[in-house]
Parts: sequence; structure tokens; C-alpha cells
Amino acid sequence: MNFNSNINMPVIALLGSGSMGTAIIKRIGAGKTILLGDISEKNLKERAQELRSSGYIVETQIVDACERESVRAFAEKAASLGSVKYFIHTAGASPNQAKPEHIIKLDLVGTAIAIDEFAKVITEGGAGLIISSQTGYMMHLTPEVETKLAMTETDKLADLDVVKTTAMTNSGAAYIISKRANHLRVRTAAATTWGDARARINTISPGIIVTPLAYDEFKASGDDYQEMIDSSAARRVGTPEEVAAAGAFLLSDEAGFITGTDLLIDGGVIASIESGRYQLHVR
Ligand SMILES: NC(=O)c1ccc[n+]([C@@H]2O[C@H](COP(=O)([O-])OP(=O)(O)OC[C@H]3O[C@@H](n4cnc5c(N)ncnc54)[C@H](O)[C@@H]3O)[C@@H](O)[C@H]2O)c1
Repeated sequence: MNFNSNINMPVIALLGSGSMGTAIIKRIGAGKTILLGDISEKNLKERAQELRSSGYIVETQIVDACERESVRAFAEKAASLGSVKYFIHTAGASPNQAKPEHIIKLDLVGTAIAIDEFAKVITEGGAGLIISSQTGYMMHLTPEVETKLAMTETDKLADLDVVKTTAMTNSGAAYIISKRANHLRVRTAAATTWGDARARINTISPGIIVTPLAYDEFKASGDDYQEMIDSSAARRVGTPEEVAAAGAFLLSDEAGFITGTDLLIDGGVIASIESGRYQLHVR
């Protein structure tokens, strides 16, 4: 049954329909046409059913966030549904879920592709949100390397020296460099493609947030993760709802003067590392 009249509603597109993305949608999706995208048909079906049963208006599309054509088709589908007011990107794989090659393809290049493609369809006054990670703060890159990660054409990112040498050495390094690149590319996009579209775009860098992805990291990192939590100011993990609260703010008109920035939501883990309280182990 469709309880909603067929009127033109702004569109909100979510690429990666996992825990954090869905938590954000639940906060801001009422009164909008929601387009969910994911590589997993099962995830899409379950999320769509859960949201529709609470009255949200939901469309779905299978999309592989690693492939430009697939992401472009997803952005075009969003535009076909109405004015694309919001874009949220949470499609990612963590170090214990994938090899470095895949992390580079998905978290680095795939995210950059999505930033490119949604700049073409986002409406004036719209907003984008990319979920990066606290790990983006865990390696100090030189200004020259950072400039290259920020400015290199998306399709040539995987050929950069820092990717071929450092990032390819292990999945942890691939993830850290990819997530730092997310911050840098969003900053560039805010000034160029997204800024020219009169739209805003920001990143959030979550710390340890309890989702299926975090469980995979817990299983593999055990004591390291526990030590990281114990040494942080919050001394606890975070929840998808806490990320969603900040995401909803950054996407709202109240954040109308905020673009090209990153919001670190980590319970103080990075502060703990930078003050020497916690010694990071990158494997
Ligand atoms: N959970 C954490 O502790 C944590 C911490 C920092 C950053 N992050 C980042 O947050 C984002 C969201 O993570 P989450 O914890 O909500 O995880 P999640 O596993 O609940 O959601 C990720 C979603 O992305 C989808 N996906 C994976 N590969 C895809 C592809 N190629 N194309 C399209 N969809 C794809 C998955 O099917 C899944 O639905 C990720 O980018 C992750 O790196 C998570």
C-alpha cells in the first residue's frame, strides 16, 4: 500500500545502504524520495522494506561503487526521480574485509568517482556527505603527496607513487591513505565542481562505531581495538545514531556556511594517539 500522494519531493540518494547510511536516512528521509544504492541485493531489499514499513518513500538500485558507469547510472536515476537535494556516500570496505587493491578501488577511487558524478546532478542549495574515517588522521603525508591525492584526475589516482608503493603494502595503509584522500578530495570538490553547482559537501570521520564492518575489525584486531577504546576520552564505542545526528546537521540548511570540511567523531581516539597516550599499531 502507498500512503503517500504523488507529489514532487526532493531526492536523497544513499550509496552504500549499510548501518550508518540508514541511520542518517531515518533522521532526514521523511518527506523525501529516498534512493538506496548498494552492491548487495539482499541489503537493499531488507533496508527498503524496513524503511517503507515506517512510511518512508523508497526506490532502490543495485550499484557497484567501484565502477564509474554504475555510479553514473545511479546518479542519473536519482536525477530522474526529482531534484537531488542530498547525497550520502558510505560504501566502503575496511582493512580486515579486503585486500589493498580492493580498498584502493572502492574507498579511494570509488569515492572520488561518486564525488565527480554527483556534482553533475546535485541541485543548487543541495548538500553531500562522504563517510570517511578517523584513520584518515593516522598517517602524516607530505604536503606534496596530499596535493596529488587532492588534485589528480580520478581515473589516474591509483597510479600515484604513494598508492603504488605505500598503500599497496597492506590493507591498513591502503585504508588510511584512502580515507585521508576522501578529506582532501571533498575539500577540492567544495571549491570546484560542487561549489560551482552552488552545493556544499563535507566529510565525517567516524571512530569505532558498532556496525557489521566494525565487528569484522574487532574480530581481527581484538586487544588493539580494546586498548584504543580504553585510552580514549570517551572510553566507549560510538553508535550509528551518533554519527547520524552530526550527519543530519551537516546536511541541513543550518550548516549552510559549512563546506569542504571534515568532522572527526571518534570519542577522542586521535587526540589520544597524538598526545602519546595510545601507540598505534598499523599492520
Ligand atoms: N563502523 C565503523 O567503525 C567505521 C569507522 C570509520 C569509518 N567507517 C566507514 O563508514 C562507512 C560505512 O560503514 P558502516 O560501518 O555503516 O558499514 P556497513 O557494512 O554497515 O555499510 C557499508 C555498505 O556498503 C556496501 N558496499 C560495499 N561495497 C560496495 C560496493 N562496491 N558498491 C556499493 N555498495 C557497497 C555494503 O554492502 C554495505 O551495505 C564505510 O566507508 C566505512 O569505511 C566505519
